Amino acid sequence: MKKILLTGGLGYIGSHVAVELAAKDFEIVILDDLSNSELFVLDRLKELTGKHITFEHGTSVTMILLVAFYPNMILKVSFTLPQRRR
Ligand SMILES: NC(=O)c1ccc[n+]([C@@H]2O[C@H](COP(=O)([O-])OP(=O)(O)OC[C@H]3O[C@@H](n4cnc5c(N)ncnc54)[C@H](O)[C@@H]3O)[C@@H](O)[C@H]2O)c1
Repeated sequence: MKKILLTGGLGYIGSHVAVELAAKDFEIVILDDLSNSELFVLDRLKELTGKHITFEHGTSVTMILLVAFYPNMILKVSFTLPQRRR
């Protein structure tokens, strides 16, 4: 099973991408700073997909560290630029 790091995975686009990736049997690690989303989305994603989803609370800066800890991962970047946040 391929492991994938999905940044911004609790947001609008990211959560939809997570559902699709789960259907394709990816093991998902979501990185999100919760600046424009809430943790209940993670529970909803687990319910919808029936899959285990790992959550890391952090900013895209943390991503660099995560890549070191989760090697051999495909990287999908989905986060809004700070100036575009609502
Ligand atoms: N049709 C709808 O119901 C609907 C609802 C919401 C948004 N939209 C549209 O979708 C687009 C935005 O979707 P999106 O998914 O790109 O944005 P989003 O804000 O929904 O998701 C971005 C996610 O990234 C996280 N994030 C932001 N900066 C981060 C950082 N530096 N590090 C880690 N995480 C970070 C946020 O907490 C959020 O969970 C807009 O065009 C908006 O109008 C549509």
